[in-house]
Amino acid sequence: MRFSTKSIHVGEEPDKDRGTGDVVSPIHLTTTFARNDPLEPTKGYDYTRTGNPTRLSLEKKIASIENGKYGLLFASGLAAETTMFLSLLKVGDHIIAADDLYGGTERLLRRVLSNAGISYELRDLTDTSSLDSIPDRTKMIYFETPSNPLLRIVDIREVSMKAKKNGLMAVVDNTFASPYFQNPLDLGADVVVHSTTKYINGHSDSLGGALITNNDEHYHTLKYNQNAIGAVLSPFDSYLTMRGIKTLAIRMKEHEKNAGEVISLLKDSKKVKKIYYPGLKDHENHEVARKQMRGYGGMLSFRLNSDLDGVKRFVGNLRYISLAESLGGVESLIEVPSLMTHSGIPREVREKVGVTDDLVRLSVGIEDKEDLLEDISSALEKV
Ligand SMILES: Cc1ncc(COP(=O)(O)O)c(C=O)c1O
Repeated sequence: MRFSTKSIHVGEEPDKDRGTGDVVSPIHLTTTFARNDPLEPTKGYDYTRTGNPTRLSLEKKIASIENGKYGLLFASGLAAETTMFLSLLKVGDHIIAADDLYGGTERLLRRVLSNAGISYELRDLTDTSSLDSIPDRTKMIYFETPSNPLLRIVDIREVSMKAKKNGLMAVVDNTFASPYFQNPLDLGADVVVHSTTKYINGHSDSLGGALITNNDEHYHTLKYNQNAIGAVLSPFDSYLTMRGIKTLAIRMKEHEKNAGEVISLLKDSKKVKKIYYPGLKDHENHEVARKQMRGYGGMLSFRLNSDLDGVKRFVGNLRYISLAESLGGVESLIEVPSLMTHSGIPREVREKVGVTDDLVRLSVGIEDKEDLLEDISSALEKV
């Protein structure tokens, strides 16, 4: 099966066994499942935290579009990350993480995992020689590619090879690219993380997270702890996400097309100082992106030629593009990372990598391009 066929059919084969022939997997809202005898085996399910048929359908679907053997779903991207870190690491272990990360992930490392005895350090993983020295207790390399918010690209194959050579796990957050444009497991990653809240669901109406792996041992630990920790995706959110994922391919193509149009406009504007988009030939890591991605997606960031007042005038004068956190939905969203998604990161840490007040992050939606372009150019006039 090819990509869209998988995203439409896997996990939802018509239910011939029960004789109903459901083409779409039903929402099994039940929290518990009756059995005949305490000693008899169940019919496959006993309690929804442990397993639910709607969630299982989506877990199979997500695994298949990431070219993975196993998929697991969680209540949010951060719930997936937390379960992954606490399951695959123990007290005393060390993480090398990329220095450009979603603010919530950095906060999880700094405020939660550090207190649980798991240490971390941030490095520029776009330069793989930064892995030439690895502290003894290191167990994992963690990164996003493209990264949030600077759209940096890390060479997945190269970092995964270095990880393997040193007996470490390579974990990749593939939220920005989505499985449509990139499959980290095929390039050697051990585990893939998604905030399904973003492109996978695609309609900004369901919070969720996923872990995908080919590794039997990791899967069994993660599956056990998915139930033991309990931060699972609800049946209703599983249904919404399943509905969204079926159009992932056509949405991603449109996001990318519109992003290209917006970039052409921004390039011609004197109000714009710099654009960050991995599809641009002058992007620092464009060659790596070209090698490992099938497309460059709908996320971009740019610097305005102005102070914070100008940035506020720009985002405040947009008509269709909402000023809001999050990304990957059909509607365009804009935000100022230093004041919003990344405001929890200490100023000196984020400014060191370039997350300053003149940086704007745009999630280009799939509205009509003419409306987006008119909206952006009239707001730029106010800068
Ligand atoms: C790249 C990335 N990873 C993980 C997350 C966390 O996902 P969630 O908000 O679903 O917990 C986000 C959220 O913005 C993100 O952008």
